[in-house]
Amino acid sequence: MFERLFSPIKINNCEIENRLAVTAMVAGMCNPDGTASDQYIAYHEAKAKGGWGLIITEDYAVNEHAMNIPGTAGLWDDAQIASHKKLTDTIHKYNSKIFCQIWHAGKQATHWTNNGVQPMAPSAIPCPVNRELPRELSIPEIEQIVKDFGQTARRVKEAGFDGIEIHAGHGYLIAEFLSPYINKRTDKYGGNFVNRVRFLKEIMEEIRRNVGDDYPVTVRYSAIEEAAGGRTMEESRPLAMLLEQWGADALHISASVYGNHINGIISSMYTPRAWLVNYAEEVKKLVNIPVFTVNRIADPFVAESILAAGKADIIGMGRESLAEPEFPNKAKRGDVENIRKCVGCMQECYGGLLRGRFISCLVNPTVGRELDVDLSPVSNPKKVMVIGGGIAGMEAARAAATRGHEVVLYEKQEFLGGQFKAAAYPPCKGDFSVYTGWLIKQLEDLKVEIHLNTEVTENLVKEISPDKVILASGGTSLTPPIKGIDNPNVVTAEEILLGKVQPADQILVAGGGEVGLETAAHLATEERDVTVVEMKHEFGEELIAPLLRNKIFEIMDEYRAVRIADTKILEFMEDGALVENAEKGQYKIPAQQIVLALGYKPVNNLEESLRSICDDLVVIGGAVKTSNAAVASCEGFFAGMNA
Ligand SMILES: Cc1cc2nc3c(=O)[nH]c(=O)nc-3n(C[C@H](O)[C@H](O)[C@H](O)COP(=O)(O)O)c2cc1C
Repeated sequence: MFERLFSPIKINNCEIENRLAVTAMVAGMCNPDGTASDQYIAYHEAKAKGGWGLIITEDYAVNEHAMNIPGTAGLWDDAQIASHKKLTDTIHKYNSKIFCQIWHAGKQATHWTNNGVQPMAPSAIPCPVNRELPRELSIPEIEQIVKDFGQTARRVKEAGFDGIEIHAGHGYLIAEFLSPYINKRTDKYGGNFVNRVRFLKEIMEEIRRNVGDDYPVTVRYSAIEEAAGGRTMEESRPLAMLLEQWGADALHISASVYGNHINGIISSMYTPRAWLVNYAEEVKKLVNIPVFTVNRIADPFVAESILAAGKADIIGMGRESLAEPEFPNKAKRGDVENIRKCVGCMQECYGGLLRGRFISCLVNPTVGRELDVDLSPVSNPKKVMVIGGGIAGMEAARAAATRGHEVVLYEKQEFLGGQFKAAAYPPCKGDFSVYTGWLIKQLEDLKVEIHLNTEVTENLVKEISPDKVILASGGTSLTPPIKGIDNPNVVTAEEILLGKVQPADQILVAGGGEVGLETAAHLATEERDVTVVEMKHEFGEELIAPLLRNKIFEIMDEYRAVRIADTKILEFMEDGALVENAEKGQYKIPAQQIVLALGYKPVNNLEESLRSICDDLVVIGGAVKTSNAAVASCEGFFAGMNA
């Protein structure tokens, strides 16, 4: 079915079984000294088991001051080799190859991950994300870092990796030297193109001196930096040609730098799928070595078509390898319907790192918890009753049924998915329905007995007489005591999104959090007159990245939806809402319809009565505390697994 995807390819002397590569992703799982932990090895092993031809590790620090995020790997010391050898030995039990990405974070390093040492860069220009002022590197320091890359490369080889990826992208140290927007030096490492590429050239020469000519050395860089004054294809084309001349064995074409508000390195659902492919194609025309493409590719048909069109030689997938570690195995056997798809939400991968945790995945809660997962068949199957068919309930049912329990699931609405169903309706969020659809298919395949339109009562539970009850009744819209909230023209965001009520032409959305903004964008694209009113100063505070907020704003602005912050709603009326703010005092915003997006509250009226009749009851997800879909999927999965 996917002939090209499953054809082998050689990088230098390394034969790779198929064209599917896991791209580098910091997982936050290494020990504080940069050595590999058991969890880190288990995380990678899941991918090797899944059939990926090549796994590229996260960025390994080349010296003890090169890191930006705690828990990142390093090979700056011979003492670190042994633990990483354990990783490569594990991966080599399967048919995968593993390359090590090596890097220095440059201005994107942080003093708090590097023993208080100030970040270093070609020029003293702060990183917009960590906001630290780096100091300019001296020439002897540059020469030392070149040597550090060489020594790290030697250790990479000794640790049993099959090759190296030099990280020259994403605004890290090498990218900083390459790029005129950060490199303001006037010595031999700055200024014109030939000076700016010198650092990378020296690094490549030093690496070759240490690993020899027959060891794969590849380079990853951002074709376009999406930063004011950053590199464009103009210089990325000659860079590709030079890299080939200097002995690169493959090129990995990524994009962007951290802190940009356009598409970003880790693009969200607001960026089109496979959007970097044409840049890879341009590079491919200029070189005779394999070219990787990456970014928002999560479908084997798309991947195969990229290869068929000759746009790239290897398909890199970062987040899709989190969503579906088994992607290659499933694609190879034509089991495409069961491939889980990354939805581009960034909540638990990028979001996990931002919160100082291991990375995980909303649609695959086992990521980062591989050592805790046990889906082996149970010896004493139980009758498990799941109440609620949202994400938490469905994940619980799936995990319990996978282990061999007999599972019945009850949902009071006429559909499965709970609040996550509505989440797929706003612009660019259609893929959210892929996860809901995937879960439904798993439950069908696992023969979970599903009852829709059924409100569970104490009597029903007595009648079913389950051994275990998992209460996942979710949440419902908050309706604070605002005058007029019961008026007939007041509806909920969910009712609007799911098409249960006819939207009016002139709408006021009450609440400018994620749901309010997305609902407003949805209504605005239907050419309605929309105003969002938010009590706080910031809109969409809970959104994990400013980039997401900006993308929703872009849609709203294009369709002329209005945002009003710092404003309290005093009363809902037939023809609008009375509001108040410091600037204008009290005034009326005209609207024919009010859409509530003021948050959620748990629905949990069964717990108390069930406690007296169920010996084994757990309450999970939004029924306990209003949170997000990632918490729901994780709590659901583990409640089901431990049923
Ligand atoms: C949590 C996370 C960490 C990442 N860390 C790295 C990294 O260490 N080095 C790197 O080159 N890219 C890193 N990336 C970028 C990915 O390799 C990839 O280019 C990006 O996620 C877009 O591809 P995708 O849509 O297939 O995920 C990271 C991405 C994520 C989500």
